[in-house]
Amino acid sequence: MKIGNVQIESPFVLAPLAGVSDSPFRQLAREQGAAAVYTEMVSADGLVRGNQATMDYIAFEPQERPIGVQLFGSDPAVMADATRVLSELPAERRPDIIDINMGCPVRKVVTRAAGAALLQDVPLIERIVAAMSAVSSLPVTAKIRLGWDGQSRNVVDVARALEGAGAAAVAIHARTRAEKFEGTAHWDMIAEAKKAIGIPVIGNGDVRSAADAVRMLETTGCDGVMLGRAAFGDPWVFKRILALVERGEDLPPPTAEERLQAGVRHLGMLVRTAGESVAAKEMRKHVAWYIKGLPHSARVREQVNHTRSADEMMRLLQAYLSELASHGLEHFTPEPSAAPLGGMRASG
Ligand SMILES: Cc1cc2nc3c(=O)[nH]c(=O)nc-3n(C[C@H](O)[C@H](O)[C@H](O)COP(=O)(O)O)c2cc1C
Repeated sequence: MKIGNVQIESPFVLAPLAGVSDSPFRQLAREQGAAAVYTEMVSADGLVRGNQATMDYIAFEPQERPIGVQLFGSDPAVMADATRVLSELPAERRPDIIDINMGCPVRKVVTRAAGAALLQDVPLIERIVAAMSAVSSLPVTAKIRLGWDGQSRNVVDVARALEGAGAAAVAIHARTRAEKFEGTAHWDMIAEAKKAIGIPVIGNGDVRSAADAVRMLETTGCDGVMLGRAAFGDPWVFKRILALVERGEDLPPPTAEERLQAGVRHLGMLVRTAGESVAAKEMRKHVAWYIKGLPHSARVREQVNHTRSADEMMRLLQAYLSELASHGLEHFTPEPSAAPLGGMRASG
């Protein structure tokens, strides 16, 4: 798939995920075969004002490329200014793609007419994309939902408007805003949108396994498949998808040892990029996901939630691995969970 002039080596990409798709996690996903990654959504306004927290969110390592920075906002002038800020960054800090959040369902965002609220105003979408495309040679893309609610599923109109205004690709989370994360994603609507436009369509929603990813490609004809929740604590999901697509091979899920080693690396990288205290706090959820389904994981999760420093968390993870190894369980692989993906404190 090609997004503007950016070559994406396979169809399978990591979704923008607030509070989850941090730089270390994006690196792990790229190492395991994700063909592109996105930052979590950042405020266009914050970017224009040079807000330090916003600038930290858009920092990345070279090995994460191709990377998209996702912006949220609703004012075409501010969105264009933010696009200019990103485009004028020194080459090594400049992203490859600028994505617009048109799917976030949370009240704080939609009451500011941003996120999924944009789906209710197609002319505004056109003005935003045109304003952004006019000031940058970077490809501008959008991540949308099917519409605001069941009565206004305008995904095909929105997709056409995006293409007409100059967008280089569109990612579709196949639910309406009203559906949040409930029920089953309506993949048939991804197929409808794909038939209507010529730019790449990236399908998204409820892909939990390698088999699902293949099924989404085959049943919708989409160009790309974006994974969110299935990658939580499991960046290896991309490797399993590629093995299935390229060699018809069904790879086993990662072992206890691989999971804990990834947790240790993730923590170490996060300490370097975000500092001790942020890392210790942010890693709690990641660790809970890495160890899910391992023997005694409930006890270890509880201990991790009470750690006071990244050092202490690191020691806990290493001690847990030694404990498992002493019982010959370092190659233990938990059964993949059959539970629904769940909404978390989801934002997209
Ligand atoms: C914790 C969490 C954070 C999210 N943050 C974002 C975000 O910043 N931007 C965005 O466009 N979507 C966001 N989303 C939505 C996901 O990108 C994706 O569209 C959604 O989870 C459906 O895909 P999945 O079934 O593969 O998880 C978020 C979802 C979750 C669960």
